[in-house]
Amino acid sequence: MSFPDGFLWGTATAAHQIEGGNATSDWWEFEHRPGTPCLEPSGDACDSWHRWPEDLDLCAVLGFGTYRFSIEWSRIEPAEGEWSRAALDHYRRICDGCRERGLVPMVTFHHFTSPRWLAERGGWEAPDAPERFARFCQRAAAALGDLVGWACTINEPNVVALMGYVLGAFPPGVHDQDRRRRVDDALVRGHRLAVEALRSGPGSAPVGLTLSMSDYQALPGGEALADRLRHQSEDVYLQATGGDDFVGVQTYTRIRVGPDGMLGPEPGVPVTQMGYELWPEAVEATVRRAAAVSGLPVLVTETGVGTAEDGDRIAYFSRVLQGVRRCLDDGVDVGGLVAWSLLDNFEWTLGYQPTFGLVAVDRRTFERRPKPSAHWLGELARHGGGDLAG
Ligand code: NOJ
Repeated sequence: MSFPDGFLWGTATAAHQIEGGNATSDWWEFEHRPGTPCLEPSGDACDSWHRWPEDLDLCAVLGFGTYRFSIEWSRIEPAEGEWSRAALDHYRRICDGCRERGLVPMVTFHHFTSPRWLAERGGWEAPDAPERFARFCQRAAAALGDLVGWACTINEPNVVALMGYVLGAFPPGVHDQDRRRRVDDALVRGHRLAVEALRSGPGSAPVGLTLSMSDYQALPGGEALADRLRHQSEDVYLQATGGDDFVGVQTYTRIRVGPDGMLGPEPGVPVTQMGYELWPEAVEATVRRAAAVSGLPVLVTETGVGTAEDGDRIAYFSRVLQGVRRCLDDGVDVGGLVAWSLLDNFEWTLGYQPTFGLVAVDRRTFERRPKPSAHWLGELARHGGGDLAG
């Protein structure tokens, strides 16, 4: 099975999940709070703050063409209005390091974490949070913009709002639908201002939002509820992407909805370490939907599977790629696939239990060991396709 020339093949990470020691962020405080829902703190993570050259080497040597990573606002602006030249230089070296290895840097400007000083002022509920975020983007773009290949503003804002303000599993850990709606509005505004800010800097990287999407499947009687849930979680953001250069789709599973609510996994369907169904076809469904609703070119900026069975990962990506191929055959503009994740890393509330990595990381020595799926997917990347499993 082959993919077009220019189709992007990449792997993704995020600062807090791999760098270690991200102590000026709201997440660090949340992990250490009495009664935290987190199974364990992030600690040293994968020590990628120091070991990033090894990560880039792996990504490039395996055969990938792009590396998606995030820059950490709380390191770059550790106190309000105080900018760390050293942190910006650090991320500039990573961008340079990508270019030197033939990797296109795909940079995320907000991946779940915010500086503690912002959290103390109300986080995304602070009246000027969108402006503060845009100011950060402008600073960061001024320092890195000429090297950035793709710019992602806010990672999964819908997850930030849902997990933080309804399910209480992310900071600030509250349960309040009304606050969620206000935060949705703030995140939409933050995204719009960030697009402007990123476009004002040097460079001309395409700018877009990356959205968590699921294939909502209604069972008889569940149609209205499925539409409502999907609208609230996805369309509110897809409708805010007008004028962007692309939309990033991040899909991991389907969600079945009955008349009384969301249903758990269907008996007989395998379940991942995350507790949801292993359902790779959800990527195809959401790519089609994102393209139709937004009218923009689509990139799959994340998909992957938390599993201890690496063979299941190969089967998963094979089915994902078959779906992407069907989209291309139907003329859907999908420009690439970025696998979550390069490394086994800190999976937020679930700590280091779920393993999404193409590469295993020894938790004591930080040694990186590519799994068979890393070589398999890297070969597909190198050749623009090949034999898919199953
Ligand atoms: C989406 C998030 O962007 C990422 O941080 C997370 O680790 C993966 N999904 C897997 O749950």
